[in-house]
Amino acid sequence: MALQINPSILSADFSRLADEAKAVEGADWLHVDVMDNHFVPNLTLGVPVVDSLGKATETPLDCHLMIDDPDRWAPQYIEAGAGSVTFHVEAAAAPVRLAREIRAKGARASMALKPATPIEPYEDLLPELDMLLVMTVEPGFGGQAFLDIMLPKIRRTRQLIDKHGLQMWLQVDGGVSAATIERCAEAGADVFVAGSAVYGADDPAKAVQALRQLAEK
Ligand code: DX5
Ligand code: ZN
Repeated sequence: MALQINPSILSADFSRLADEAKAVEGADWLHVDVMDNHFVPNLTLGVPVVDSLGKATETPLDCHLMIDDPDRWAPQYIEAGAGSVTFHVEAAAAPVRLAREIRAKGARASMALKPATPIEPYEDLLPELDMLLVMTVEPGFGGQAFLDIMLPKIRRTRQLIDKHGLQMWLQVDGGVSAATIERCAEAGADVFVAGSAVYGADDPAKAVQALRQLAEK
């Protein structure tokens, strides 16, 4: 599969979300960070905003749920138009049941790991998932520094995916920029979330292209 760049709307101007989404049309997915001030110490947006955003852009929505009780909420994000839903394993009561429900409702099922959560206990769950997200910052805020110490986990996750012959995607999120994306790609990631590196640039669409070129090097 070709590498994918997913701009994170978290670093966009929330008063102009439709325009900000259009500014990165050509990106593979639009990454939407949902935070509830419980699972993470920050509050962003919810189902109604995802619903409106989905109508404002052709780009499919990659919803990253940094919330408690994703078992209850994930289906509503699919109904609101999310094409991919990522829940945190640390928050999910029944990750296998949840992944199956997401797939049954027609979206891609994805599971995220915070920096201190190892991949190894979840090896047997990988076939239930369309994507695994390795967080490269502590979730909660955009603009944080990339955690180099996550590179071995990206590498180990890639090895497990390959060992099982799975086609699933491996996403990285947090501090991904022109300075760090090549290391993520080299470690085996194939889906790259970038917030400040895209929306902090003068031309977000060009920033997406530049990141893609670096990742493909
Ligand atoms: C952080 C979010 C990220 C965030 C990334 O908790 O999950 O998606 O938007 O922002 P940058 O790319 O600025 O680290
Ligand atoms: Zn995210």
